[in-house]
Formats: sequence, C-alpha cells, structure tokens
Amino acid sequence: MSQHTNAPKPPTVQAFRQAKAKGQKLSVVTCYDAWSAKTLNASDVDALLVGDSVAMVLHGHPNTLAATSEMMALHTAAVARGAPHKLLIGDMPFLSFRKGLGPAMESAELLMRAGAHALKLEGVDGHEDVVDALVKSGIPVMGHVGLTPQSLHGLGGFRVQGKDDAAAAEILRQAKRLEELGCFSIVLECVPTALGERLTSALSIPTIGIGAGPHCDGQVLVLHDLLGVDSSFRPRFVRRFADFEGGLREAVATYSRAVRDGSFPNAEESYA
Ligand code: KIV
Repeated sequence: MSQHTNAPKPPTVQAFRQAKAKGQKLSVVTCYDAWSAKTLNASDVDALLVGDSVAMVLHGHPNTLAATSEMMALHTAAVARGAPHKLLIGDMPFLSFRKGLGPAMESAELLMRAGAHALKLEGVDGHEDVVDALVKSGIPVMGHVGLTPQSLHGLGGFRVQGKDDAAAAEILRQAKRLEELGCFSIVLECVPTALGERLTSALSIPTIGIGAGPHCDGQVLVLHDLLGVDSSFRPRFVRRFADFEGGLREAVATYSRAVRDGSFPNAEESYA
C-alpha cells in the first residue's frame, strides 16, 4: 500500500510559521481524552495540546509534578484516536527530559509512538542537548517560557514572571535560545502584556500565549477552563466561554428527578 493516501492530513507545524508570516492568530486548546478530541477534531482550532495539566484537571493533583511519561502517553493515544485531523502536541512531563539524553529520548519516543506530532518542553537551560536531539531527529519542538509550572517550587508558586527588566531579559534570552535550537513555536505563560509583545516581535517563530496578553501570535487555554467546568477556579487570564459546571449540575439533577419520579425511562426509551 502506498504511504501517500488521500486521507485528510493533520495541519503541520509549517502552518504555524505561515500563520505568523500572514498575521493569522493561532488557537490552541488542551485536550486529554477521546471524547472531547472527537468534537475538537471537527472544530477550527489549529492544534491540540495534551498538556501535563491533565494531572491537575483530570487526576486531581495540586500541580503538574505528578504527570509521568506513561500518563502522558495514555492521554496522547486517546486524543490521537479521537482527533486524527488535528496537529497534536504532547507535553514532556516533570523531569522526563532532565535525566540525560537517553531517558529523555525514551520518553519522547513513548509520546510520539502514542500519536503526538510534536513535543513541548518547559525551559531550556540544562537540557539544550535534548531540544537539539529532538529537532535533529525530526521531532518538532514547542518551547515554554515565563511561568513554567514544573518549576513551581523554585519559582515560589504560580506567579506572573518577567516583571522587572532583568527577569524580562532572562525570559527573552531563553526564548531566543529555543528559537536558535529550532523550536517551531513557544508558549509564553503568565508574563506582562508588554513582555508578550516584545517577545512576539523579537522572535520569528510564533508565540502562543496563556496569560501573556493579546499581542502573542496565538493563544492556548485549558479546555476545561474555557468551558467553565470549575467556577471556583478563576485566574485573571481565563475567560469562561461556557458554563459547563452549571449545565452538568442541571442535567444530572433533571436526570435524577426523572429517575425518582418514574418518568425515565419512558416507552420509547425501553425495549418492547
Ligand atoms: O499543561 C498545559 O496545559 C500547558 C498549557 C497551559 C500551556 O502547558
């Protein structure tokens, strides 16, 4: 059988660069499961990120440090099955790329074989060799600077980064280095708007912001945050585009009532 079929192909990382050149904003959302992937597959979002935030959002951990390569591979495979037409970016979890090149490549292999088309890594210092090896192996790499949640304890919590000149210059240096190493784009997390704008014009690769203001080349949000699944979680940078928590509560209450009053299931919902 030919390797080249007429089946629809997922968008490529090249499309990310082209979008920046044309001034077209990129929309990225997180996705962790086949159910939501199926719906997102038919949407016009540019890429799905199987973020290590899955450890918090789906597994209930207080931070992303609990994510493992196996956890990420399991969710990546589920998303790949549900969204075959989307560019799928897998997140390399805590320490998976900090134990030397061999273990890092094994973790990368697990995610790529699970169906990722590209990988995201937080930071750059101390693992430039991993970024370089991935890029030279033909694996597109997305960088991530600013607030890097895997360094939460070192950073003193989830807080805005790059507020003073020295910190901003340091983030700019890291982003430039990631660009030099061949990253196809960079997530900027929780930095002031002015720094988001500065980085976006300083880099030739697209910046994807989360809490980095409106001047980034694209935005990424956690799907569950934009759906409004948890009204108690309200960081400044999240806009709730729906009220899923309210909808879920109402649907389950209506179901429960229907079961109790005997109106569910009715004749059409039962087998003769
Ligand atoms: O894990 C994640 O969801 C992320 C995004 C917030 C960028 O890294």
